[in-house]
Amino acid sequence: MKKDKIAIIGLGYVGLPLARLFATKFPVVGFDINSKRISELMSGLDATLEVDNETLKSVLVDDVSDANGLYCTNQLEKIKDCNYYIITVPTPVDKNNRPVLTPLIKASETVGSVLKKGDIVIYESTVYPGATEEECIPVLERVSGLVFNQDFFAGYSPERINPGDKEHTVEKILKVTSGSTPAIGQKVDDLYRSVITAGTHLAPTIKVAEAAKVIENSQRDINIAFVNELAKIFNLMDINTHDVLEAAGSKWNFLPFKPGLVGGHCIGVDPYYLAQKAQEYGYHPEIILAGRRLNDSMGQYVASEVIKLMISEDIRIKDAKVLVLGITFKENCPDVRNTKAVDVIAALKEYGANVTIFDPWANEEEVLHEYNLKSIRTLPNEKFDAIVLTVSHKEFLNIDFSQIKNKKAVVYDVKNILSENIVDKRL
Ligand SMILES: NC(=O)c1ccc[n+]([C@@H]2O[C@H](COP(=O)([O-])OP(=O)(O)OC[C@H]3O[C@@H](n4cnc5c(N)ncnc54)[C@H](O)[C@@H]3O)[C@@H](O)[C@H]2O)c1
Repeated sequence: MKKDKIAIIGLGYVGLPLARLFATKFPVVGFDINSKRISELMSGLDATLEVDNETLKSVLVDDVSDANGLYCTNQLEKIKDCNYYIITVPTPVDKNNRPVLTPLIKASETVGSVLKKGDIVIYESTVYPGATEEECIPVLERVSGLVFNQDFFAGYSPERINPGDKEHTVEKILKVTSGSTPAIGQKVDDLYRSVITAGTHLAPTIKVAEAAKVIENSQRDINIAFVNELAKIFNLMDINTHDVLEAAGSKWNFLPFKPGLVGGHCIGVDPYYLAQKAQEYGYHPEIILAGRRLNDSMGQYVASEVIKLMISEDIRIKDAKVLVLGITFKENCPDVRNTKAVDVIAALKEYGANVTIFDPWANEEEVLHEYNLKSIRTLPNEKFDAIVLTVSHKEFLNIDFSQIKNKKAVVYDVKNILSENIVDKRL
């Protein structure tokens, strides 16, 4: 019997760790349209920092073969020989928060052009229920000329990794699997079970697996929106929200969510996928979209709190020097996609403040390219009128705030990580 050969389409935060893991047991070809990413990966460097250089180098091979290992490429012919195609491309929203399926459709066209009888195409990208069968499969059929569930098959297995989290790595997170027929579901499940040490959960249908993923992130979004609302209420009442959450958290079934900015590629985006599909069915989601609205408004809220604090200290707002600590969407990770720190920055600028952005994790070029903002990776040797911590990077714990504060200055801590004697106010 011929050995299974896996192609992973899209080598980003999700695709690369998966490709690396499968490469320990299978011949794997990683395919990406970004040629810079391919050459970096083939030299053993992962700019997303999800796979360390040594681990990556330990699986890299010089060319496609039947031996276990990972070969990364942007050449279509190199994936022709595979029999599993796993698609891990982005699923963003547009400026009106509508799902953008273009990368998924384009990746399906790529796979369709090399699809053969007996192949299985597995989608991992987060989508709304129905996207695989209604949007992607028709593309595979059209381009390949093959018939679904007769000539080729499909699966859906959502990814649950958490960028920057070195503890819950891909093999240690239980994985939901599914297939386009019961037998294919079992095959897909066996494939993942061979590498995921935490095990798998075989869902009855592709739609169930798609829905499961999108509600995991929607649930988090709503829970965070709830504590963000609490933070606004308790702030008006002059009660420390974190003290309240700690006290309530002493009950066994109180959920430990914290207030903050909700950005990134997942939690702030995925609920819109579910909402859009619900609307297509004539249902207008209330709770899901209320959560989105509230979380999307937090950047403005943080900025207005900082400004009020400065006014209360008689600090002139126009041209005030404000230092923002952190521009990535989360701590200890270089990912700046859909970061809500930019909302804080934009609002502070609107008030007339002069903002400096310090983030030791963010790539300055990427920040400039994505947001037209200048960020720096070393702490400036200057003094500021206000300091706003938006991301809990570990480096921020070592800052000597007395060295960067003007005589009259305020410190606002969105993440509640700085000690009480440093902070004037927290979210
Ligand atoms: N980042 C996360 O934490 C996370 C977690 C779980 C699920 N997801 C989901 O996984 C999917 C991928 O997310 P990501 O964070 O890995 O994205 P990413 O942007 O890090 O990586 C996607 C990669 O796909 C490549 N790509 C884009 N179009 C392509 C095409 N047509 N053909 C080949 N390659 C293509 C890009 O060049 C990029 O390298 C999304 O649906 C996301 O919602 C992400």
